[in-house]
This record gives sequence, structure tokens and C-alpha cells, in this order.
Amino acid sequence: MRRFLIGMVVSVGLAVFAWQTWLGRVSTLPVAEESVESFLANHWNHPLPPQGAPVVDRPALEASLDAASCAQCHTAQWEAWGGSLHSRTMGPGIQWQLRLMNQEQGNRCLRCHAPLAEQKALVALERGWSAAPAKARPDYVPADLHRQGVACAACHVRGHDRFGPPARAETRLQGTAHGGFTAHDAFEDSRFCATCHQFPEDGPRVAGKLQEDTLAQWQASPFAGKQSCQQCHMPERQHLFRGIHDPEMVRKALTVELIPLRENGRAVARVRLSNTGAGHHFPTYMVPKVYARLALLGPDGETRPVGEEIIGWQVDVGLTDEQFDRRIPAGGTFEFERDFPLPTEAGWRIELSLDVAPREHYERVFADSLQKASLMDTGTVTELRAALSEAAATRFNALRLSRSLENLRIQPVDTLARCDGDADC
Ligand code: HEC
Ligand code: HEC
Ligand code: HEC
Ligand code: HEC
Ligand code: HEC
Repeated sequence: MRRFLIGMVVSVGLAVFAWQTWLGRVSTLPVAEESVESFLANHWNHPLPPQGAPVVDRPALEASLDAASCAQCHTAQWEAWGGSLHSRTMGPGIQWQLRLMNQEQGNRCLRCHAPLAEQKALVALERGWSAAPAKARPDYVPADLHRQGVACAACHVRGHDRFGPPARAETRLQGTAHGGFTAHDAFEDSRFCATCHQFPEDGPRVAGKLQEDTLAQWQASPFAGKQSCQQCHMPERQHLFRGIHDPEMVRKALTVELIPLRENGRAVARVRLSNTGAGHHFPTYMVPKVYARLALLGPDGETRPVGEEIIGWQVDVGLTDEQFDRRIPAGGTFEFERDFPLPTEAGWRIELSLDVAPREHYERVFADSLQKASLMDTGTVTELRAALSEAAATRFNALRLSRSLENLRIQPVDTLARCDGDADC
């Protein structure tokens, strides 16, 4: 069965599911004085313990872990989060794999995809895993909490208490609810995100590199200490969490130059892609690929491909061999050139397009797994097919940039481009 699993595996223990065993915060310091490191060690102390006995007399709306309940009062956060991938971390891409796992294996994935004990308990009930809770679901746990993915409560609620960043006068809600909240600077710190976006030193590697290394890339970048993950991914505290799936974010990441020139009698297109706007490698993981494609565009719409380069970290489906690593580190530049046969007639342009496949690695993994569909039950195959089409449907074009070739064309004929067998020249 293991050969079906995607290998983002970190070592965590098997959670014990009783709805009401609250283990308590380990620290003895008043929370606000606790260092960021110590706060985060408690806050993300996996496996996260159950919330414990509900607070007596708290109204149902304020007691609920349901994102839809938070939405009644925190509408802006709910709307933004609902459009983000954090609300969709329990889609078909992980579902088909959970169906092939036992509880211990499944919980390793849920640690990042649905981390609350109450979410793991619901998955255990759904999958019929052995350590599912015996007692009825308490009122503060909605039936679909596990499907909500990285829900509000996963980041903000521990032991039924709310935790958040220090309040800002402009956006602070009037009145009180859910017994107030505890403020800590850790929410504004890049390390807050590390629990899911950075593997520990002994985490899984390919070619010696950690599969997830985003915080370390940020720490080594020109943005360290200047712009946090939150400042780019939650501007003005908006819960957008936009990344490589978003065309505007991709454009923000790069400074793009396309320069057609003549060199030693050849026509050459030079492309320079600089990572000036992502606080980590572009892209940070092995999953996305970005295709930088050059083509000649004719005056009447004809297109002649000139060449392409793939930006990204290419690893085989078994996560053992690196094929290439052409990610662009923060502050770094990737440059390439292509010769092309200069068209003799007027009106031609050279075009660069950036096409993004945000889940390219998963597309390959899912297609490869489909070869073994005969070993799976129909429910699993249905989820797997859905995962493949969902992943493929995320592809998009982020940018098209074109330059006139007139200046090259009017150069003296003796320096004209090589024709490379093109019949037209
Ligand atoms: C009935 C309305 C209501 C509901 C429901 C509610 N909240 Fe709140 N929340 C408030 C109010 C009012 C405050 C301001 C409390 C204060 O200033 O003491 C607040 C404060 C907060 C803060 C701190 C904001 C800051 O400035 O740092 C966080 C975080 C928070 N809530 C999260 C949640 C989450 C998560 C849920 C759902 C699990 C939730 N709340 C449900 C009304 C609500
Ligand atoms: C992945 C973790 C994560 C999730 C999920 C999440 N939040 Fe937050 N939330 C944060 C962080 C981090 C901040 C502080 C951002 C900053 O200071 O730049 C924050 C800030 C807030 C604030 C304070 C906003 C302000 O303007 O002062 C509220 C209220 C809040 N979140 C509620 C919610 C609600 C409601 C949901 C679900 C709809 C939610 N959060 C989901 C991490 C999260
Ligand atoms: C340390 C945190 C972490 C663990 C553990 C983890 N993931 Fe993920 N997973 C992520 C992050 C972050 C992303 C988004 C970045 C990306 O696409 O690479 C992601 C993306 C995915 C995706 C693609 C998006 C989607 O929803 O289709 C799938 C599928 C997936 N993970 C499955 C798994 C499975 C199966 C496991 C357990 C074997 C697992 N993950 C364990 C953090 C984690
Ligand atoms: C509990 C785990 C968890 C925490 C905490 C968390 N994330 Fe995520 N994040 C994920 C997972 C899982 C995904 C993958 C979603 C998918 O593709 O299904 C993701 C996706 C994202 C994406 C979208 C990537 C894309 O492919 O477009 C961004 C951006 C992001 N997270 C930023 C952050 C930031 C910033 C923080 C800290 C404030 C944070 N995350 C905290 C688990 C987490
Ligand atoms: C200076 C702004 C900036 C900072 C700081 C920043 N990011 Fe990003 N991030 C981006 C941009 C722009 C993209 C889209 C391009 C890309 O994917 O690299 C992105 C993409 C992502 C993605 C999508 C997946 C991928 O393979 O690229 C994730 C996940 C992510 N960021 C998480 C984080 C985390 C976690 C931190 C903090 C450790 C962080 N980012 C810091 C700007 C930033």
C-alpha cells in the first residue's frame, strides 16, 4: 500500500480520541509574556489535544468550532478564507489517499491538512478507523469540521479559548464574545506558518534538500526581518493566502525582461526572470512548474514556437531522484536565450508567455497511480480521477509579453540570422 502514498511524512504519534481529555497548556508563564518560540511550541504541540470540557453557559454560537459560526461575527475573515486553499485542504487529492491508509498513516497527513483532534476524530469515524471516539459528537463540533480543512479554529482555538494577534483599533470588534481572546505577537511572526510549511531538519529530502523548506528559504532571503509571510500572504490581515495558483501573485513574484537582439549575425531572444517579489524560492516547492515559452507571432495570427524552459524543481513520482532544480531563489535571476530564424516580411513579433501548472508534480503522481486502479475499490478510483482533473484544471497563463522585431529586420542583410533549416528564409 505504501507505494500509493505521497511521501510528505513527518514523525508524529497516534492521537487518542476522547472528545474531552484536555491536556492543558504546558507553560506556566502568562501567555503574553511568553516568547514567540515557547508560545508556538505549545500552540502547535502535535498531535493537538482535544478542546476538552465545554465552557459552562457559553452560548452555542460562541462555543462552536464551525467556521460558519465564526463567520456570523468575523465575516471578512470568513469570506477571504473561504476563497483560499486553506479551506480546501481536504479535497479529493488527499481523500483517495486516506482511503488507502490506516489511522497512523492518515494522521500524519491530517497534522497539516485538518490538524484539530476533533477533525481527526471525524475522519476516523468516516473511515471506520479503530481509535474513533465512542461517545456522541459534542454540540461544538459540526459534522463537517474535518471537511473544512485548515479551519479558523485550527489556527485560533485551543482549550475552547481564542488566540489572535494584538488587536488593532481599526478592526477590533465591539463588545465581547467567547470569553474574549488572548493576544500574542506569534501570530505576526513568520514562524507561525512553519508548522505546516517547513519540515524539520530530519524531515524527508530529495538530493539532500528538504521537500518543504519555505521558512528557511525566507530566512536566507532579502525579505528576512523585513517582510513576514503574513505581510505578503495576509496583507492588512486579510485571510487571502494567495500563492502560485493566483496569476496576480505570480506576476508580483517576478520582474520579467524580454530582449530581442542581433549577435554574431543571429537573431536571439534573451529572457531574464528575476525573483524580486516572492520571499522564498520561485516556486518554493517541487510541486508547481512554470513554463517560459518563446514564440514568433505573425501579422496574420500565425504562431511559430521557438523554445521553452521549465522553472521549478523536477522530482520523479517516487520522490527519490531529482531531474533538475531550476527554482529561482529570492533575489536571484534565471536567464536563457534562444536563436530564431528572423522572418523576412514585416509585422512579426517575438512573444514570451509564462504558463503555470501549480500542481504539476501531483498531476504526474495521480496519473501514475491510476495505472494501479484495478487494485483499488471504486470509491477510491472515483476520488483519484476527481483529484487528477482538479489538479490539471488549475493550469493557467500568467503573462504574455511581446516585442517588435522591426529593429532587427532593418539591420544590413549580411548579419541576418541563421535559418536553421526554415524553408521561409
Ligand atoms: C458572537 C460573535 C462572535 C463569534 C461567533 C466569534 N467571535 Fe471572535 N470575536 C468576537 C468579538 C466581539 C471579539 C473582540 C473581543 C475582544 O476584543 O475582547 C472577537 C475576537 C476574536 C479574535 C481576536 C481578534 C484580534 O483582534 O486579534 C479572534 C482571533 C477571534 N475572535 C476568533 C474567532 C474564531 C476563530 C471564531 C469561531 C471559532 C470566533 N472568533 C467566533 C465575536 C465573535
Ligand atoms: C492558517 C492560519 C489561520 C487560519 C486558518 C485563520 N486565521 Fe485568522 N489569523 C491568522 C493570523 C496569522 C493572523 C494575524 C495576521 C497578522 O497579524 O498579520 C490572524 C488574524 C485574525 C483576526 C484579527 C484580524 C484583525 O484585523 O485584527 C481575526 C478576527 C481572525 N484572524 C479570525 C479568523 C477567522 C474567523 C478564521 C476563519 C474564517 C481565521 N481567522 C482563519 C491565522 C489564521
Ligand atoms: C508538514 C505539513 C504537511 C504534511 C504532513 C502533509 N502535507 Fe500535503 N500539503 C502541505 C502543503 C503546505 C501543501 C501545499 C503546497 C503544495 O502544493 O506543495 C500540500 C499539498 C498537498 C496536496 C495537493 C493539494 C490538494 O489538496 O490536492 C495533496 C494531494 C497532499 N498535500 C496530500 C498529502 C498527503 C496524502 C499527506 C500524507 C502522506 C500529506 N499531504 C502530508 C502540507 C503537508
Ligand atoms: C495547519 C497547517 C497550516 C498552517 C498553520 C498554515 N498553512 Fe498554508 N497551507 C496548508 C496546506 C495543507 C496548504 C495546501 C492547500 C491545498 O493546496 O490543498 C496550504 C496552502 C497555502 C498557500 C497557497 C499555496 C498555493 O499553492 O497557492 C499559501 C500562500 C499558504 N498556505 C500560506 C500560509 C501562511 C502565510 C501561513 C501562516 C500565516 C500558513 N499558510 C499556515 C497548511 C497550513
Ligand atoms: C515578499 C513577499 C512574500 C513573502 C515574505 C513570502 N511569500 Fe510566499 N509567495 C509570494 C509570492 C509572490 C508567491 C507566488 C509565487 C511563488 O509561488 O513563488 C508565493 C507563493 C507561496 C506559496 C505557494 C507554493 C509555491 O510552491 O510557491 C506558499 C506555500 C507560500 N508562498 C508560503 C509562504 C510562507 C510560509 C512564507 C513565510 C515563511 C512566505 N510564503 C513568505 C510572496 C511572499
